[in-house]
Amino acid sequence: MAAVFDWIALLVALWLTLGDTQLQQATLHPLVGHIFVHTLDHETFLRPPEDTAVLPSASVTYHAHLQGHPDLPGWLRYTQRSPTKPGFLYGTATAEDRGRQIIEVTAYNRDTFDTTQQKLVLLIQDPEGPRLPYQAEFLVRSHDVEEVLPSAPSSRFLTALGGLWEPGELRVLNITSALDRGGRVPLPIEGRKEGVYIKVGSASPFSTCLKMVASPDSHARCAQGQPPLLSCYDTLAPHFRVDWCNVSLVDKSVPVPVDEVPTLGDGILEYDPFFCPPTEASARDFLPDALVTLLVPLLVALLLTLLLAYVMCCRREGLLKRDLATSDIQMVHHSTILGNTEELRQMAASREVPRPLSTLPMFNVRTGERLPPRVDSAQVPLILDQH
Ligand SMILES: *[C@@H]1O[C@H](CO)[C@@H](O)[C@H](O)[C@H]1NC(C)=O
Ligand SMILES: *[C@@H]1O[C@H](CO)[C@@H](O)[C@H](O)[C@H]1NC(C)=O
Repeated sequence: MAAVFDWIALLVALWLTLGDTQLQQATLHPLVGHIFVHTLDHETFLRPPEDTAVLPSASVTYHAHLQGHPDLPGWLRYTQRSPTKPGFLYGTATAEDRGRQIIEVTAYNRDTFDTTQQKLVLLIQDPEGPRLPYQAEFLVRSHDVEEVLPSAPSSRFLTALGGLWEPGELRVLNITSALDRGGRVPLPIEGRKEGVYIKVGSASPFSTCLKMVASPDSHARCAQGQPPLLSCYDTLAPHFRVDWCNVSLVDKSVPVPVDEVPTLGDGILEYDPFFCPPTEASARDFLPDALVTLLVPLLVALLLTLLLAYVMCCRREGLLKRDLATSDIQMVHHSTILGNTEELRQMAASREVPRPLSTLPMFNVRTGERLPPRVDSAQVPLILDQH
């Protein structure tokens, strides 16, 4: 009975591992020039339902890389505060990244040593809607990068910023940890954060308030350690502590003249963001190739063996055949010689003549005693004892 249960458990385990190997797949649509954030939730990777009970304390770490490459593409970064917190893939795609990228994510469950894989298909395309030429970057000192990556805090930031800017659509364009920009890891004191740079874009021009904050006068005051010129009410203040000395504004409303646009048709294909290079080769069947490789030499070897066997066994010139092909006179000649030789041999064996002394073993002349032939001459005494 126990054996039956063992078998069932084995089959279930086998079925679960087979299920594991099936990759989960998700398709995402990052936009060029806009922040892309993908949260790697433990729930997505842990196997329900048995793991859900331990979810809050589950330790999972992730490794993500571009398919066929060891690391992530240049625009995409990965961060995770601790194994019990979710991981994030985030970054801003540039125009060169347009098209299709496949990210493979492996999750390692630190408690059960399970691994799960997921494939993220990123279809990177140009954003629709108006251009966002007015861009401002803020250093938020009160947050770590993981704390502004989820959509709730970043939209709260945009709402709060809307109070400072002309009304219009505000979008987060880029998020960077201050550590990636030369910031320092804070002391482990409650409330100290690494800080994060948030870049925001809008179609509407900067407010006078923002312009004044980023003006050279303001920078000069900052350099002297004085607070900058903030002429308006800091609507971000309670939640987000912005370093008003590190605001930078970029105005891209005047298009920069583009030089050297490659002409289409001259070896340059028309741009197609959804062009998928044929990366996935169709499965090839190597059985015929293998059979040909093995069978042809085998067949040749077999043919040669048969040929050799035929030559050796069937084409052999037997004794009878050779005798038949020889002339009678020659045969008589041969057999006469053979017969005579045989007769001579028999006669030689039977003749009764004493053998010459030289052929006899050594003997004593006086006593006539014959010594058995000495085998080893080294043992024969040189002077024979004569008494
Ligand atoms: C986003 O910020 C990072 C870090 O500062 C920078 O390397 C990257 O070029 C930025 N991306 C875009 C599209 O500006
Ligand atoms: C903030 O801006 C000032 C002046 O522009 C600069 O010296 C300083 O390094 C900046 N701080 C950080 C953390 O980037």
